[in-house]
Amino acid sequence: MKHVVLIGPMASGKSSIGRHLAALLGREFIDTDSMIVAKHGPITQIFDQLGESTFRQLEESAVAEAIRETKPAVISLGGGAIISPRNRALLENQTVILLMTDLETVLSRANLEKRPLLRDDPEAWNRILEERMPLYQAAADVTFDTGKLPRELLAQRIADWLRR
Ligand code: S3P
Repeated sequence: MKHVVLIGPMASGKSSIGRHLAALLGREFIDTDSMIVAKHGPITQIFDQLGESTFRQLEESAVAEAIRETKPAVISLGGGAIISPRNRALLENQTVILLMTDLETVLSRANLEKRPLLRDDPEAWNRILEERMPLYQAAADVTFDTGKLPRELLAQRIADWLRR
């Protein structure tokens, strides 16, 4: 059986929806950002002290480790994981779900301080999404808009889609 992998832009709800979805499916939940933080400290600190390219290397290792997990899990990736060809290749054999939202929703509920690419320039969210959108779409089996509905309900809709 395949992993369910959640991809999509920063602050689109990948972690919270992933946690609910994993509970509904009775699977382990793995969050690659959390794996990196547990091993190397806060993401802002990694960006500030080691730079984005080191973060991307740590991210590739975390994604590879998560996908290697033998029991099918729900895995949520950081928004930028899709820019790595290695990560994209690992997604090819998994069920990939794109979680989409919009800038207005992100600004109203996200913790931008924890996101080095947004903390000084929240509007960068749109520009970054524009660059990555073709990669997200090419990798995804299905897309869910996470803007309006409660996280629990969205997780339920995704679980229904998976059982279709
Ligand atoms: C990033 C997204 C973040 C985190 C890092 C970089 C990105 O994860 O990996 O700040 O480049 O889009 P979220 O998608 O959970 O915000």
